Amino acid sequence: MLIRIKQGWEIPESQVTPESVFHDRRRLLKAAAAGPVLLGAAGLLAACDDTPAQAAAGEDPSAKLYPVGRNPEYMLDRPITDESLATTYNNYYEFGSSKNIWQKAQELPIRPWTVALDGMVEQPMEIGIDDLLAKMPLEERVYRHRCVEAWSMAVPYSGFPLKALIDLAKPLSSAKYVKMTTFQDPDTAGGQRAAWYPWPYVEGLTMAEARHHLAFIATGLYGKPIPKQNGAPLRLAVPWKYGFKHIKGIVRFEFTDERPKSFWEVIQGSEYGFWANVNPEVPHPRWSQATERVLGLNERVPTLLYNGYAEYVADLYKGMEDKENIFM
Ligand code: MTE
Repeated sequence: MLIRIKQGWEIPESQVTPESVFHDRRRLLKAAAAGPVLLGAAGLLAACDDTPAQAAAGEDPSAKLYPVGRNPEYMLDRPITDESLATTYNNYYEFGSSKNIWQKAQELPIRPWTVALDGMVEQPMEIGIDDLLAKMPLEERVYRHRCVEAWSMAVPYSGFPLKALIDLAKPLSSAKYVKMTTFQDPDTAGGQRAAWYPWPYVEGLTMAEARHHLAFIATGLYGKPIPKQNGAPLRLAVPWKYGFKHIKGIVRFEFTDERPKSFWEVIQGSEYGFWANVNPEVPHPRWSQATERVLGLNERVPTLLYNGYAEYVADLYKGMEDKENIFM
């Protein structure tokens, strides 16, 4: 008999909506109308309505790919954040420094969109986003999302493991890091005209982090293509790290043996480091990280080590704790 061991971040089996129901919106609507069976899936019901943000985004050529099957290994112990909140409360400095940038982000053209896979690879390549999507194993995962500003959400991302993209890129064994870069287009993204920021936005991971099963490239959200304000057409999701690592609007994955200096590290290295692993006991120099404000729930809850994913990622950092501040 196969006994599936529950992952540490999972919700009880009884609360999991059957995949077949979630992935058939019509049946979901009918079932919800029929009775209370699905009322526990309040967060999922939100996925049925287009938010103003998504209506403004217009039709995306990848829309037909979604929704994709949910991977039951990646569930959570808290309700899914309302879609209307996750798509209107954003950080995307390319479009301004307020949380309310979703309308401005609609200006970003996301087709054509070419992604470069280069640096220390067998053969550098460029690939269009729709060709890339066709090659990748798409699935949905519900991830915790914890910002360094001490707010959090629970978000259903669709996309593919970063490892699948690395396998396509075929990096050389001498590559130690993957450096990711956001588009640069100051005519469209007004924030990029602010010369005091080191554009373009850059982020990086070690190869071991990037190959970890939790490292995910999100191309969808709430069973639809990911909205522009959340990083369309592709953004990173590494849920054990603070949200600023989750680079949006990626155009380049470069494999390198030099540790990349990330956007926020260049701006304020004493506050935003390369590692950025979540630890409630390591405060930001200007505020505590012990608790987080769960958006939509109007409550603060304790923040967990590695944002609740410690048993899966702590090994990545074995022996490093004394040498580097892996929590900053
Ligand atoms: N990526 C780019 N290119 N530009 C940004 O300003 N902000 C980061 C991250 N990715 C940012 C970015 C920060 S600080 C956070 S918390 C998350 O995106 C927010 O993601 P969300 O808007 O989908 O919640």
